[in-house]
Amino acid sequence: MKMNEEQRGWIERAEQYVHEELCRDSSGHDWWHIVRVRRLAVRIAGEEGADVLICEMAALLHDVADAKLNPDHDSGLHKVAQWLESNGVDSKIRDKVLSIIANMSYNGGHNPPMDSLEGQVVQDADRLDAMGAIGIGRTFAYAGWKGHLMHDPNLAPREAMTESEYRQQTSTAINHFSEKLLKLKTLMNTNSGKQLAHKRHLVMEEFLEQFHKEWNAEDDE
Ligand code: ADP
Ligand code: NI
Repeated sequence: MKMNEEQRGWIERAEQYVHEELCRDSSGHDWWHIVRVRRLAVRIAGEEGADVLICEMAALLHDVADAKLNPDHDSGLHKVAQWLESNGVDSKIRDKVLSIIANMSYNGGHNPPMDSLEGQVVQDADRLDAMGAIGIGRTFAYAGWKGHLMHDPNLAPREAMTESEYRQQTSTAINHFSEKLLKLKTLMNTNSGKQLAHKRHLVMEEFLEQFHKEWNAEDDE
């Protein structure tokens, strides 16, 4: 379904709002992450027959409510709710977008599954941006931002963790692959998401294999 002029106006205003909110972030939630997730969400929505307006809007706004950028998750959601209301976004659309954003984050794998196709699309798009070449880049950027090492062979990856352990304990960029990134392939919701995840997963596996070879000076000439 094509968007009308009013709906295109909402998207344009959301774009400006999110850009202002996130353009100074260097923790991996920067503006270009939003641009990539939005592009993936629109592509997957088209392939899966999901509502593009809802997917695009939720993709644009999904990190504005992030707990890392707000006092807590609820106040972040409240901020987005108010923005949607003051910009005249239809209440039906507003509720759908808010419900997607409320359930988006990985949280160490502790959130319930998405109950709408649009939510599944946007969640797949966000997760795909943590995988593949982009995902590798973001992981090392995040570790640098946190002051973590890229690798410490004496620090074993954590097997099971609570939400706050996932967020708070020190880890390394390399451990983040087994703690989260290599699990994402099996968590994809949609068929398009699964197909894109397949290649991105292989890219990460190849990268890790080469990383460990180089670490041990066992790489081929
Ligand atoms: P989201 O909430 O969307 O899952 P996060 O804030 O957890 O995103 O992560 C932002 C980016 O940083 C992602 O690419 C993620 O994989 C990466 N990241 C998150 N935690 C760590 C960590 N402990 N070490 C390295 N990279 C991480
Ligand atoms: Ni995100």
